[in-house]
Amino acid sequence: MATLALKPTPEDISTAVNILRQGGIVAVPTETVYGLAADASNADAVARLYAVKGRPAFNPLIAHVNGPEMAAQEGDLSGKAGFCAGFYWPGPLTIVVPVAPGGAACELARAGLDTIGLRHPSHSVTHDIITRLGRPIVAPSANRSGRISPVTPQDVYEELGDDLDAIVDGGRCPLGLESTVVSFTGQEPALLRPGGVERAVIERFLGTPLATAETGSRPESPGQLSRHYAPNARLRLDAKTADGGEVLVGFGHLSGDYSLSPRGDLKEAAANLYPLLRYLDRHHDQIAIGPIPRHGLGEAINDRLQRAAARDEPC
Ligand code: TXA
Ligand code: MG
Repeated sequence: MATLALKPTPEDISTAVNILRQGGIVAVPTETVYGLAADASNADAVARLYAVKGRPAFNPLIAHVNGPEMAAQEGDLSGKAGFCAGFYWPGPLTIVVPVAPGGAACELARAGLDTIGLRHPSHSVTHDIITRLGRPIVAPSANRSGRISPVTPQDVYEELGDDLDAIVDGGRCPLGLESTVVSFTGQEPALLRPGGVERAVIERFLGTPLATAETGSRPESPGQLSRHYAPNARLRLDAKTADGGEVLVGFGHLSGDYSLSPRGDLKEAAANLYPLLRYLDRHHDQIAIGPIPRHGLGEAINDRLQRAAARDEPC
């Protein structure tokens, strides 16, 4: 069946909710990137979602909620985790906590772990969808596993074609980079994935440094697999000039053939990163990218670029 193109109208949102209720898969907008949503309580729908994405079964999904109350039914939001939820939600922070007994999210959504990733997205369309469904949705980024995340409905269709049931058009995602993932399951809070909320801001809020999670072939947060967010083109980082055959992407003073942000603004660079990589991947085999500062949002941008440039196979 052809993928249904839905608008953010009340009627179309009802259609999206009905599709989810019947076990379907719907791409939904968030402030970070488009998510591929399924009813978190429906194991068959979640299994189909893993298959559509080609996602390894050991990589858990984030349960998206409509607020701290729904979140508290799914996970233990006591202590610092709840403190962060109260301050950063709705917004681009995913909080990993011990799973609560009797939560709606099925075991497969958590890849069998006894922890759960929870996020309250700020996009009003997806907030409405979750509220009308009455339970959490799982929503990994709506790309094939290992590929560039989509920030427009057109990107989603380019990634997944007719393998999903519907795409809800909520416009272009303003942030353009995934949420920050912080785990509260160890002794100290740990940063599992840098993202839309800067590390330093969370550290100031909590008053402690965030531990950095181990990476490797089966890391705690499998979004941290080495090759991820990747174009087909070969990517070279920290380039000052283009070598033969390369297109050069600049930042700030380094102008290049394209620029992530001519005025050297990391927020602008984050929003441009995936669309520019997606565009250049269509037209070029070799992309060189100039140095991007590592502070603030630069940590997440550099994290994505390093994984996009890694040549090992995604698993
Ligand atoms: O911004 C976002 O977070 C987007 C939008 C759609 O909300 N979603 C997203 O989902 O990026 P996904 O599945 O592409 O990335 C989720 C990350 C993965 O790295 C996963 O391993 C980690 O969160 N994660 C989820 N649950 C976890 C858990 N229980 N323990 C450790 N890591 C977890
Ligand atoms: Mg992803």
